[in-house]
Amino acid sequence: MNSHYPVMNNEVISVLRDSDGDLFLDCTVGMGGHASLILDEFPGSELIAIDADSESIEMAKVNMASYGDRVRFILTRFTRIFEIDGVEWDRISGVLVDPGLSVYQIKSSGRGFSHSEDSRLDMRKEIGKGISAHEVVNKFTEKELSEIFEKYGEIRNAKGFAKRIIERRLFGAIDTSEQLRKITEDFFGWRPKRGRTHPAARVFQALRIYVNDELGGISEFIETLSGNLKKGARIVFLTFHSLEDRMIKEVFRKLKNSGIAELIKPFPMKPTDEEVMLNNPSRSAKLRAVEIL
Ligand SMILES: C[S@@+](CC[C@H](N)C(=O)[O-])C[C@H]1O[C@@H](n2cnc3c(N)ncnc32)[C@H](O)[C@@H]1O
Repeated sequence: MNSHYPVMNNEVISVLRDSDGDLFLDCTVGMGGHASLILDEFPGSELIAIDADSESIEMAKVNMASYGDRVRFILTRFTRIFEIDGVEWDRISGVLVDPGLSVYQIKSSGRGFSHSEDSRLDMRKEIGKGISAHEVVNKFTEKELSEIFEKYGEIRNAKGFAKRIIERRLFGAIDTSEQLRKITEDFFGWRPKRGRTHPAARVFQALRIYVNDELGGISEFIETLSGNLKKGARIVFLTFHSLEDRMIKEVFRKLKNSGIAELIKPFPMKPTDEEVMLNNPSRSAKLRAVEIL
């Protein structure tokens, strides 16, 4: 589950503070929370704001209107940023990547991202592009579903759960996030208890990662990025689940071992107890950062 609000603000700023604060690249602008903080913290700076979700970027434009031409918005997956002309790589001093879901996507996009909202299953961040969660849940084979639940949700009885989905499909399509949540609750015998995570969280995570190909091209993106950035530039990556975190940890190690970048410590940084108390979903956040040598 992703946090609903910009997380680890102080840590993000403290890592970027040692850069020269000229031009920043926010790869996942969302509602513009971190981006606004960065622009406030570095008054002379500019920022390129990317998001794959057209509705989110329109909202970020409204939220950040007061920064005028200090911000440029680009609608794209960040892994495709190298195809965009006019990015002054030699000026960029800090890059932030905070993928996952924004509060808007979770609460009001109507795309079925969350098991706590009832809307049609879709889960595509790039609106209308590619395969939807509805197609995955209603058309994929038992084996395909089982692989998705196991690989991206690390769900224990993935095979059994995939079988249950197939059985339920015999009675009609699974159209909504609520229907999927109920199937999950029933299969895993869910009883709410303090401190226990709802089993649908992993099911929804698995579908979301698959539908949006969230892990695809991330390592290559970081490697190409590190080759484009100037000495002293910093890359900050926030992760919310172990699959993504492992990937970032590995690629950052690789950059260190080949003398391209230095790891910024502590490694990883985690939210303070106070932040977790105020914003519980932030508990799974980890921040990893490097400086280009
Ligand atoms: C957790 S929110 C970012 C919140 C933001 N840092 C803030 O402070 O408001 C994640 C955002 O990243 C976007 N996103 C996720 N993966 C992406 C990708 N591969 N390329 C571009 N945007 C992506 C989502 O659409 C979403 O708006």
